[in-house]
Amino acid sequence: MTQTLRPAASTIKEAIESRRSVRQFEQAPMPEADLLEILRLTSLAQSAFNMQPWRFVVVTNQEVKAKLELAANGQKQVGGAPVVIAVVADGAEFHQPTELLARPEVLADPEKIEKFKVSVERAYGSKPLEANTEFAARMSYIAIGYLTLAARGLGYDTSVMLGFKPNEVKVLLEIPEHAQVTALIALGRGTEEGLAHHRLPLEVLTRFVR
Ligand SMILES: Cc1cc2nc3c(=O)[nH]c(=O)nc-3n(C[C@H](O)[C@H](O)[C@H](O)COP(=O)(O)O)c2cc1C
Repeated sequence: MTQTLRPAASTIKEAIESRRSVRQFEQAPMPEADLLEILRLTSLAQSAFNMQPWRFVVVTNQEVKAKLELAANGQKQVGGAPVVIAVVADGAEFHQPTELLARPEVLADPEKIEKFKVSVERAYGSKPLEANTEFAARMSYIAIGYLTLAARGLGYDTSVMLGFKPNEVKVLLEIPEHAQVTALIALGRGTEEGLAHHRLPLEVLTRFVR
């Protein structure tokens, strides 16, 4: 068995500092429990109105991954990772039953349910599908960040990608045409270190208003 090069991070600081785009992975299938735990942690990401508008298509099938690799301009980490996740933003998914969306304390109080429904309607209930999909796409990047760090916490690595042909990915994974695929993420135990972080200085990134 290949020696895992990259130990799990045990603090948030370690997860952030050790996360890099890793593009080579152990071939062994990923234990289901680890995969589900990473997805559970990702689901704790925050979102406007708590609507959690991201959806994940989790691909472990080797043949489908090979086809996805072609749709991703031949990027080898797609076929080479044990898991590839397509992150999907779909405004149609906003319309979830109130019983699923509202917190228990809201559901327990008819007045609060009414207020909740009014605020949902105002926020996105009557907005066009494209606008809601765009809104969902923006929020999905928060979940993507969580996923990459949650993976580190369990000793896994990721490669987030936008280099793919969205229409081909949608056809392959039966994702509705109106939805956006906001990233493909290769996930597995990394067998390379990835490149050292190289970042713009804080002075370029930041302006203080004191
Ligand atoms: C939205 C997004 C899209 C990216 N697309 C690709 C991609 O298609 N292929 C790839 O190899 N890396 C891709 N990257 C990885 C970046 O090149 C990488 O994050 C950046 O160079 C910083 O390196 P690090 O992730 O190792 O810190 C993408 C990253 C993000 C966040």
